[in-house]
Formats: sequence, structure tokens, C-alpha cells
Amino acid sequence: MNIVYHETSKTFHLYNDRISYIMTIMRNGHLGQLYFGKQIRDREDYSYFLETCGRPMSSNVYDDDRTFSLEHLRQEYPVFGTTDYRQCAVEIRQENGSRISDFQYKSYKIMDGKPGLAGLPATYTQEDTEARTLIVILEDDVTKVQVELFYTIFAQGGVMTRSVRFYHGGEKPVLLTRAMSLCLDLPDCDYVWQQLSGCWARECHIKTRSLEPGIQSIGSMRGNSSHEHNPFLVLKRRTTDERQGEAIGISLIYSGNFRIQAEVDAHDTLRVLAGIDPETFEWKLSCGGEFQTPEVVMVYTDWGLNHMSQTFHKLYQKRLARGCWRERARPILINNWEATYFDFTQERLLEIAAKAKECGVELFVLDDGWFGERSSDRAGLGDWKANQKRLPDGISGLADRIEALGMKFGLWFEPEMVNKDSDFYRQHPDWIMSTPNRSQSHGRYQYVLDFSRKEVVDAVYEQMARILIHAKISYIKWDMNRSITECYSKAWPADQQGEIYHRYILGVYDLYERLTSEFPNVLFESCASGGGRFDPGMLYYAPQGWISDDSDAIERLKIQYGTSMCYPISSMGTHVSAVPNHQLGRMTPLHTRANVAYFGTFGYELDLNRLTPEETEEVKKQIIFMKKYRKMLQFGTFYRLQSPFEGNQTAWMTVSDDQKTALVGFYRVLNCVNGCFTRLRLLGLNPVYCYRNVVDGSCHYGDELMYAGLITSDETAGEMISGQGMNTDFESRIYVLEVTES
Ligand code: DGJ
Repeated sequence: MNIVYHETSKTFHLYNDRISYIMTIMRNGHLGQLYFGKQIRDREDYSYFLETCGRPMSSNVYDDDRTFSLEHLRQEYPVFGTTDYRQCAVEIRQENGSRISDFQYKSYKIMDGKPGLAGLPATYTQEDTEARTLIVILEDDVTKVQVELFYTIFAQGGVMTRSVRFYHGGEKPVLLTRAMSLCLDLPDCDYVWQQLSGCWARECHIKTRSLEPGIQSIGSMRGNSSHEHNPFLVLKRRTTDERQGEAIGISLIYSGNFRIQAEVDAHDTLRVLAGIDPETFEWKLSCGGEFQTPEVVMVYTDWGLNHMSQTFHKLYQKRLARGCWRERARPILINNWEATYFDFTQERLLEIAAKAKECGVELFVLDDGWFGERSSDRAGLGDWKANQKRLPDGISGLADRIEALGMKFGLWFEPEMVNKDSDFYRQHPDWIMSTPNRSQSHGRYQYVLDFSRKEVVDAVYEQMARILIHAKISYIKWDMNRSITECYSKAWPADQQGEIYHRYILGVYDLYERLTSEFPNVLFESCASGGGRFDPGMLYYAPQGWISDDSDAIERLKIQYGTSMCYPISSMGTHVSAVPNHQLGRMTPLHTRANVAYFGTFGYELDLNRLTPEETEEVKKQIIFMKKYRKMLQFGTFYRLQSPFEGNQTAWMTVSDDQKTALVGFYRVLNCVNGCFTRLRLLGLNPVYCYRNVVDGSCHYGDELMYAGLITSDETAGEMISGQGMNTDFESRIYVLEVTES
């Protein structure tokens, strides 16, 4: 890995053994983009990449030159209105009303390692040798606003990160109305756009479309990154698939309002912008003031989507997630939410816990309803004290009793919210987000606390810390069940109201930072009605997240498959729940529910006392199985094999780091008769290793399994007389492959 500056051609080249990123200082002093893609050898001058020509209707920068128009040049941090008519990366409104800026190159710095981002989650290095960082400093001479463009290239993998820091060195305050984290100008638009979209209980479905002239975008203006669109985009070539081909992944490490967009211009070049949503953002830059944008991670590969995802997985597991849980196998938990909802007593909880312990579960999680007057979703949020009527021994008493059973204890919070029917709200009615003289909208009867105010965050911290100090709590589920409306803070002046959405998220990050550093052994799981805020920003604090409130195994195939495009298996909260499933009434076999949940953190969300003795024995076996394989399932290399978006079958697999063990998950949604012979061409095995298929005892070399395939045919390929076959709808299998010899 290296970063080189070629003085004569004024060219920066960042490269490692996978990728190159090349920029130059253009004739007008702006930073131009020359190349991003597969590594090319370093040389003095690539200026031929910067093509110019006189085009009709273009506006030009120089009096004597009809060829130099910013409209047709690829740039690193473009502004609008000085010959470029595309959407821009930065916009500053000045005292005289002008929005024009002119960011001229001033200097650069190269450093080993990677600096942190003040107040924001970001990838990091542990050793300086893991990455190098280039900082290019630009300045607008009129306003004296400086822009520092940060580019980090990691030694391993085709990964770069980018972010931007503003510093105002002038004398008159200005308003930052757009400060994107990334502008990536690419020379052609021959890509398929792939996004992860959905809604509550249907998160992260894969949607694709061809790029067309104009702007296509995803984003959120809800105050949270949202169920609707994950802050993640893939641009892949038409011929790219899971196994081969070029792809660029763009992932924004941010949990609030965002936008990722691609603009195809009239000459088929492509501009990608990613960052804080400009529609709902303004930031007052006072003299001497600073602003830091969130970080964007860019992955380039020419080895297909699986390889792109694996690059994100490793980076996010090892250098985004932090703390002692980062690379530890996750405890198998039981959560009482779908077992009891709000209807529980201490006795009932202990019954559920005792049965779970008997089955081998390691962590009991008490969900919503344990605090204040919380007997429904209309009251109690904000009062983080145990409800003595339900829990006579308090949280510490209950935690002690769970620990005495030989399990760890975990607790649910929704720190950012209040019900109006709560003591906290009655004491601080002015602490919710609301606009003066306007109605206050609710979501699930709850209101959003104004986390842009430090005193509000402090008060919530105090309540949570008190419980964490006094009770033996090993895990926290941090929920967030509504989006922001009437965004306004009474603590900030009129000309800073545009900052509130971002300041809110900074407050959330601040609370997470304080709790995770004060209580470093606690495992945090983020949640927002399932996947309403499942994003890389959260992963920095909480190494796992509840990806969906939909716990049906068949729905989960799509949700987990889509989520795996960017996020590692170790980050996905996955539970076995009861049937009929509570979200859509579907009956699925117990083994299929587990076979899907194994590819995640794994747990149960039902009352195990209600199972038959046979089912209880099956659960015990599932837990033994998961304990044996969880480390490799969660931290091995994950491959998608067959997409649930494309047919009746889904398949995926995980391979251990030493390639000696592989687990293949195979799922068939609807049963069939007189069907086809089927086989799965596996990935990631060692071709010369001989693997024993634990299901049927057969042995096959890695090359057979990868190139000819694992035979998955069963009696559905023939005539199944009067349903005698073992198969039903929603059938699934796990193939365990263990090396026998090499
Ligand atoms: C939404 C979460 O996603 C659920 O798992 C559960 O914790 C409920 N909130 C509790 O209100």
C-alpha cells in the first residue's frame, strides 16, 4: 500500500495490491478525479485520463479556451454554478446571499494509519501499518473556508474511506447547506444500481435497476437511516454476479438522514454523491468553526459480489466494531418479547428462563415492559426504574436470580423516547423535539427526546448507568421505535435549527460512547423496530443488531440475504420464534427456523415451556450444534450461493478460515413433485481437501464440490406417493462438511 504525489504532474496515486485511486490538481486549482478501479502501475503522469473538448452550450472557465468546462471534468469535491451544472458535493451560503465557492488546492499531508472522526463512528486502524491517509487541503479565497479531504487506503483488500472536515478561517459566519462525504465521478455509466430497500418487517430487499440519464437516489429524511433504504449502494457491471465481475460498494457510516445518489449526464458519465441528506441539513460555520462529515467506505472488486461483501464483512467485523465482543462468539439468548409481550410477572419470566437454561441457552433478555407504568405502549418510556408490581425484587434482584440459574442477564431500553404518560415527561415537558406553536405528532404514542441537548443525554445516561452499576447486566438491547417529526430544538437559536437532525444523531452517538466505555463488558444490540437503524454507524457501538421484527424463517431468507450484501453474519440478530409465526401466521418446521437463524447471532424468542418433549429435545440439539459451530458461522467467510429473490431455493454457506469446515444452508420454499435433480456449486473450499459430508457420510474433494457441485436432489425429483416423502413446504437442510484428509 502506498500514497505517492508526483510533483511535476501534480498527481496523487493511492494504491494497494487490489486498487488504485488517482487524482490530479487541475489547471484551475481544483482537485480532479482520474481513476478508481483495479490497481494499475504507478507512473509520473496520467493526465491523458482528463479529457476535454469544446462542447456546444457548455460554459467555460477561461476567456481564451472553449475546452475547459467543469461540466465535463471529473472532480473530487465539486461546487455548483461555476460551469458545472450537475449536483454538487458542497454548497455554502454566504452573507451576501451567494452560493458560489471556489475551492483551490493549498497543500497536502500524508500520514501512516488513520485519524479518528470527532464525535462520529468510523473505521479505524490498530497499527499504523494497516493503512495510510492522504489529506488534501483546499480553500475558498473569498470566504476563507477550508476543506480537508481525507482519503484512507487500507493495506488489505480493495478498501478506501473518505470524509471531509471544514474549517472556517474567515471573519463572517457562513451557512453550510450541503456537505457530502463523497463525490465519485466515473467515466461511464454502464452499471446496474443495486440498493437494499423495504419497510418495517421487510427490510433490506435487493432492488436493481439500470442507470438512466438524470438522478436516481435513495435516502432518508426520517431522522434515522430507516427501514426504507439502507445507506448502502452497489454499482455493478451488467455481467457481474456473485462469483465474478466488477462491483463498487458504497457504504455510509451514519445513522441519521442520508442521501446516496447517482447522476448520469448527457454524455453518459456518472457522478455518485453520498452523505448527510442536504434537504434536511444546514450548519452554521462561525469564524474558527469546524464541521466533520460522516465517513464513506468504498470497496472495489473485480471478483464478484461475494468478494465485495466479504471485504465489507472483514472490515466491519475487525475495524469498525469495537470492544471485547468484537471477535467473540455471541451468547445464545432467549428474549421474552414474542413469548409474553407486555404480559408478564417475575415468576413467568423465571419459568421461561429456567426452561431455557435447561435447553442450554446462555443469556436471558428481558424486553419491553419492565419499567415505570409500562403495561402497554401508551405509558412509561423515560422512567427507567423497575416496575415493582411486576418485578418485586427489582432489576438487580431478577438479574441475581437469572445469574443463579447459571445464565447471563440482558435488558431492553429505548433511551431516546418518552411517553407523555411518564414521570420523566411530566418533569421535563420541554425536552421533547417539537416546533413552537405546532402540533406534536406521535409514533406508537411516544415522543422523541431532544438529544441535541447535552442535559437531556446526561439525564438519560444517569438513569441507565444507575441500573448498570447496581444490577448484573451483561447485554443491552437499545431500541428506537419511531422517526422524528416537527424537528426543532428549543435550546438552539433560529439560525441553527437546520443542525438539529445531525446534532440529534451526535447525541445518540455520545450516549452510546459513554455507555460502551463505562461498561465495556456489556454486549450491545441495536434495534429500531427491527432494521430501522441497522447501519454501519450503529455497528461501531453495538456489534450486533436486530435486523427485523419479522421472525418468520422464510421472510428472513430475503432479509438476511440482502443484509449480507454489506453486513457480517456476526452483526445480524436472528431468533427462532413460535409458530404460527406472529407476523404472518406461517407454519414452518422447527428445524427450518433454526437453519435460518444459525446464520446470525442465534437465539430464541418464544416460551420453550410450550414446546412438546420432542421439540424440546430438538432445541437442545440445535443449541449444541450452534455452540460447536458458532465461531466459524459468525466469523468465517460467508458466500451467497442461490438468491431467494430469484427462485424457490435459497442457499448460502460459511467456510472456516482454515478451509477445513464448511456449513451450507439449503432452503426450499415450496415443495415440489417430479422436480429436477439439483446441485449446488460451492465456493471457498480448498480444491485438494477431501470433505466428509456429515449428512450422508459421503466424501468429496473440494474441487468436486465447487466445480461439479454438491448433490442436493431428494425424493422431490420423483413421484411422491400420497405425501410419503419427508419433505413439506419450507424444507431446509444444513450440510456440514469436515475435512478428512488433505
Ligand atoms: C420493537 C423491537 O424491534 C421488538 O423486538 C421489541 O423489542 C419491541 N420493539 C418492544 O417494544
